[in-house]
Amino acid sequence: MHSNPPSYTVHDAIAAIRNLIEDAQRNGCAGETMSTALIQSTGVRGDVLQSIRESLGDCTRCILSKGRKQIVFGVGNPDADLVVVGEAPGRDEDIQGEPFVGKAGQLLTDILQAIGLSRQDVYICNVVKCRPPENRNPEIEEIETCLPYLQKQIEAIAPKLILTVGKFAAQTLLQTDRPISKLRGCFVDYNGVPLMPTYHPAFLLRNPSAKKEVWEDVKQVHARLSELTGKTYSLKGAK
Ligand code: URA
Repeated sequence: MHSNPPSYTVHDAIAAIRNLIEDAQRNGCAGETMSTALIQSTGVRGDVLQSIRESLGDCTRCILSKGRKQIVFGVGNPDADLVVVGEAPGRDEDIQGEPFVGKAGQLLTDILQAIGLSRQDVYICNVVKCRPPENRNPEIEEIETCLPYLQKQIEAIAPKLILTVGKFAAQTLLQTDRPISKLRGCFVDYNGVPLMPTYHPAFLLRNPSAKKEVWEDVKQVHARLSELTGKTYSLKGAK
């Protein structure tokens, strides 16, 4: 027999997690490790992401819905320590329904691998979930319409770190119009989570000399992630 998928709000999920942790503590299991294991084993974050996706439905909240083939919501590990946020789906992403699968996506995958992370380890999403026509920049109204869904995705995953690629992701999450050349390279606080802005891989394809700055930025991500998670990630030499 099939049952309907659970429909949680983020607050329901947080309350459920709190109950699980309190139960575990009453049963003699305490501490961060137990809490993290409980949250992950219950799959709560995946369920919350699914309910956010369902709340988008077959979205027609902005004009981008007219030209898209499909909504590109996000991909990866709901329990990720690192969330990567890009700008908007391009042609390949619109066809495949997955963020960062074209040329820029391959470069992003290589960058992540260079700091010991696979696409399956992290969660990847975009500021806007539908492809802008001819890959134009997303308009302010489109960004504002889609932003609550990105905010909810990040809230559901509760990552240790965020890496934004390109100006739109950094400027949108940080609510600033500072240029990406000034924002990149330093961690900034996003609701208590360190956020590293760096250049977009599509920019690197056009300007390979900027790879050295991105390498400096992601080395900082590697170091901070190791510190925050206590995990060991391999680190390759810069390409
Ligand atoms: N560029 C982005 O910003 N996001 C994608 O998903 C693909 C290309």
